[in-house]
Amino acid sequence: MITEVRAPGKLYIAGEYAVVETGYPAVLIAVDRYITVRVSPAASDTGHITTDQNAGSRLEWYRQGSDMLIEPDRDQFSFVLAAVRVVEEAAVALGVELQVYDLDITSELDDDSGRKFGLGSSAAVTVATVRALCTHYQLGLDRMAQLKLALLASIGVQRSGSGGDVAASMFGGWIAYTSFDRDWAREQREQRPLMDLVAADWPGLSVRRVVPPDHLRLLVGWTGSPASTSRLVDDVQSNKSGDAGWTYAGFLDGSRSCVEAFVAALDHEDTDGIMAAIRRNRELLHGLGEHTGTTIETPQLRRLIETAEAHGGAAKTSGAGGGDCGIVLISEDARIDDLLAVWERADIRVLNLHEHRPDGED
Ligand code: PMV
Ligand code: MG
Repeated sequence: MITEVRAPGKLYIAGEYAVVETGYPAVLIAVDRYITVRVSPAASDTGHITTDQNAGSRLEWYRQGSDMLIEPDRDQFSFVLAAVRVVEEAAVALGVELQVYDLDITSELDDDSGRKFGLGSSAAVTVATVRALCTHYQLGLDRMAQLKLALLASIGVQRSGSGGDVAASMFGGWIAYTSFDRDWAREQREQRPLMDLVAADWPGLSVRRVVPPDHLRLLVGWTGSPASTSRLVDDVQSNKSGDAGWTYAGFLDGSRSCVEAFVAALDHEDTDGIMAAIRRNRELLHGLGEHTGTTIETPQLRRLIETAEAHGGAAKTSGAGGGDCGIVLISEDARIDDLLAVWERADIRVLNLHEHRPDGED
C-alpha cells in the first residue's frame, strides 16, 4: 500500500514575536504550495528516505527493534526523523506493529535554485511526515492529536519557535493560534507516556479557524533574501530589556490586543478594522525591532510596505522579517498593476499564492 500526504506551507498574517510567549495569539494562513510525503513498503529490509529539498538527498536506514538506525546521519532529515520517531512511539503505544518503508519527499516550498521563500518548509515536512505515517499505520488520531505529535517532533529539533507554522500546516486555511508552553511540554515529555501527553490539555495551546477576509485580496511579495527565524528570535529575546518609553511587556500587550481586534474584525467582516489591525501590528513590530536593535523591517521590506500603502493597501512584514516575505491586504477592486510594476523595478517578486483550503474537519 502506498500512502501519499501533502502539507501546505504557511504565512504569518499577524502576531509575530509575541506568539513565541506562551498563550499569545497570532493569525496565520496555509498557502497552496506543498511538501508531499509518500510512504511505501520497502523492497527489502533496508528503507530509504529521499528528498528533492536541498538539491536532493538520500538516506538509508534499517530497523533494530523499535529503533531506526541511520547511516550516515544527515541534518536536513532531522525534522523528518523526529517526526518518524514520535509517530512510531505512538504506534508502539497503540499496539501497532512497526514496518520498514521508503519515504519520498518532494517540496514546492523552495524556488528552483533551492532558495527558501520563508513559507515554513521545516514545519510542512514535519506535518506531512506525521500525517503520512499516522495514515500508513492507521493510528486513527484526530487533527489535534497529530498536531501535538508534530509539535513534539519539532521541539525536539528546534530550540525556539511558537509552533504557529506547524498548526497552520496541520489545519490549513486561516487560523487563529495561541502558543503552548514549550518548557511544560518538554518536561511532560520526559515524565509521562506519550499518548497520555497527547490526550492532555496543553497550557496555552489553541487553534481556531477564522473567516478569510471577503472583499480583500492578499498579496505576497518576496524580497529574495532568506532570513533565519531562530537567529532573529534569539536577537529579540536577548535584547528585550527595553529602554526609555518602551517595554517588552508593552509590546506583548499591544500585540495581543491588536491580534484580538484583527480576529474580531475578520469575524465581523469589518474591512476597516482588518486594515487598521495590520497597520497597528506593523508599528508594533517596527518598535520591537528598533528597541531590540533587530532588523525586522529591512529596506527592501519597507519599500514593499510603503508602495503597498501608497496604493491603498495595508501591509507589514510576515513572520520574523529580516528578509523573506511581506504581505498586503488590499481591496479586491483596487487596480494593482501599478503597484506590481513598482515592486518589479525594486526586485520584489510577487508570489502567486492562495489560501490552502483545509480538507475535512476534525
Ligand atoms: O519568519 P517565519 O515565517 O518563520 O515566522 C516567524 C514568526 C515568529 O513569531 C517571529 C517566530 C515563531 O516561531 O512564531
Ligand atoms: Mg521568515
